[in-house]
Amino acid sequence: MEHVVIVGAGHAGTQMAESLRTEGFTDKITLVSAEEGYPYQRPPLSKDLLIQTARTDPLPLKSEQALTKHDITLIKANPVVGIERTTCSVNLSSGVTLRYSDLVLATGARNRQLTVPGTDLAGVHYLRTADDAARLHEALATAHNAVVVGGGFIGLEFAAAARSRGIAVTVIEHGTRLMARALSPEMSRCVADAHTAAGIRLVFDESITALDGDGAQVRAAVGHDGTRYPADLVVIGIGVEPNIELPHAAGLPTDRGIIVDSHLRTADEHIWAIGDCARFPCPRAGAATRRESVQNAVDQARALARTLTGTPSEYCALPWFWSNQGSMKLQIAGIGSADDQTVPHGDPGSGKFAVYRFREGTLTCVESLNNPRVHMAARKALTTNTTPALADVTANGFDLNKFLTRAAVGCKAGTVGRDCRDNG
Ligand code: APR
Repeated sequence: MEHVVIVGAGHAGTQMAESLRTEGFTDKITLVSAEEGYPYQRPPLSKDLLIQTARTDPLPLKSEQALTKHDITLIKANPVVGIERTTCSVNLSSGVTLRYSDLVLATGARNRQLTVPGTDLAGVHYLRTADDAARLHEALATAHNAVVVGGGFIGLEFAAAARSRGIAVTVIEHGTRLMARALSPEMSRCVADAHTAAGIRLVFDESITALDGDGAQVRAAVGHDGTRYPADLVVIGIGVEPNIELPHAAGLPTDRGIIVDSHLRTADEHIWAIGDCARFPCPRAGAATRRESVQNAVDQARALARTLTGTPSEYCALPWFWSNQGSMKLQIAGIGSADDQTVPHGDPGSGKFAVYRFREGTLTCVESLNNPRVHMAARKALTTNTTPALADVTANGFDLNKFLTRAAVGCKAGTVGRDCRDNG
């Protein structure tokens, strides 16, 4: 009897359990969770759940009935505290030991901590788990002034939600622009203008040096030159760090992530890693990379389920991502890099905008705002390598959907050039 033990019941771990069954695995599956409840969807925690004034529970990823139906054992509130590679077993905090035939690490990531005085004051929050979101939802009911530390995805999704509830919001970003890790300068600017127009104050090149309280309650965030930003609510969203301590302690290679090969296998042939915690060789990035997205978690789980059920599958899915910020739906297909050549498309002021990013003349990433059609077309184009050239995109009236239609017709007629012949 085989036994797949999955550590972590987030998007990656839960999908792993389900995909094993879909792929025909009939032996034992145990999903070990550090959290109390059933697996839930993470993206709405920083969006819809905070916008609504009525408190709602997080949406389930898998209900108790669904787990039972698939014969998946969920162990709750009982984190794995050690891996014994010689005996192929894991120890849980309760003292229970589980033997595995394969171990899947889907341990995710945790919030990077802001290390300044005052982060223990009441009114200071991080946002990652359902419990974090519930506390924040409660705080929003009485808050007047919110300071958000970090102009990344989490910070801006929260900022937009808080603003929509009538709260004064200031975002403090220590870099020079929003979401710089992932977005082109043009898209950063477009999103910044929209947040500013919605009444959110954006402060760049600023570092918070302390959070100041009145008794136990936060009252202000203090900038590098002593500037005080009034706050009765502070949300810190300055990135995440992968949970790699377990494999590290077990002697497995880690480097800002758990190192895996293209099949998502660690240096131990019975131990695998997927999702936010895994650093894998990514052909599209041209390097080993770690990605933080639902897409990555789900697609890696699916690929690994195929591998564990007898069809070795290298992971090479196209990365894509979305972020809802107020009325903005931002979507990214592919991977951009700092020195990309960028081609903006559309009027940033119109609320509908896109940026095509090229590396060495090849389209590698499309960012779109309020334009799901372009996003879906970009995913198709990038997945199939049916990509327009720079000259196509800069031409008047360029439309990615029309380009794909023409390319498909050309493919059928056998008259197409490089893009269709390269189809993967
Ligand atoms: N003060 C101000 N800003 C800071 C500081 C600091 N001390 N440290 C980092 N920042 C800024 C970064 O410059 C960046 O703009 O915080 C932002 C963090 O943005 P992300 O890296 O996108 O991280 P976060 O918003 O926390 O989201 C974490 O959750 O939704 C997922 O996939 C999403 O990867 C993202 C993850």
